[in-house]
Amino acid sequence: MEHVVVFTGAGISAESGLKTFRGEDGLWEGYRVEDVATPQAWKQNPELVQAFYNMRRKSVLAAKPNAAHLALAALENKKKVTIVTQNIDDLHERAGSTNVLHLHGLITKSQSSIDPRLTYPIVGSEITMGEHCELGSQLRPHVVWFGEPVPAMELAIRVCRQASVFLVVGTSLQVYPAAGLLNEVPMDADVYIVDPHASELQIQRPVTRIARKATTGVPHVVDQLMA
Ligand code: APR
Repeated sequence: MEHVVVFTGAGISAESGLKTFRGEDGLWEGYRVEDVATPQAWKQNPELVQAFYNMRRKSVLAAKPNAAHLALAALENKKKVTIVTQNIDDLHERAGSTNVLHLHGLITKSQSSIDPRLTYPIVGSEITMGEHCELGSQLRPHVVWFGEPVPAMELAIRVCRQASVFLVVGTSLQVYPAAGLLNEVPMDADVYIVDPHASELQIQRPVTRIARKATTGVPHVVDQLMA
């Protein structure tokens, strides 16, 4: 069966009300990325980092999957689908997708600050300072910060190497190693890119560029794949 691998970024959740990272002002929700999304930030000001992600988590919990997430979930009725997402929200899962690989973690979980393999569901929307993992260290958000390893990368590479169709949605392809996944896709696979700025992305292979927002562009591609 055809294996459709979908690679998503912040743009797929934009129309659910979650902000992308590389907006015009270069800030993420008013913060510089180095101040909230690095191990150094956590070391220097864990309270600020925790509060920042507690806010982000509240926005994620309040957001709903949009037509793009839902179309990808429906595609599972016809095709083998794997979603490889850079997003830390759970909107693919809530839309009904069953095979989702999170490269950069999942904000609805907490993680030990000394052993990233120890993750836990979060009750409510906040991690509080003083909440500890089973080893006694402070719990932090289960997200991969800049400068940290990406443990799911190996599996993601294997998945991308099996793709017969590769659909990229809403990513600026600027953050590595994730952005390098496109290079793992077999040369005979069909590659589609849905992004309002699709024409500006630098890609060294033939791709079908769909310069539309996710909520219209993704259902359009999914319809073609199901036909
Ligand atoms: N539909 C589709 N794409 C959209 C939409 C939309 N409605 N709105 C914006 N986009 C596109 C933008 O044109 C841009 O190409 O989404 C992309 C968002 O790019 P980034 O903000 O750079 O997000 P992303 O590529 O996911 O960032 C990668 O960077 O900060 C880190 O770890 C974080 O996973 C994140 C990584």
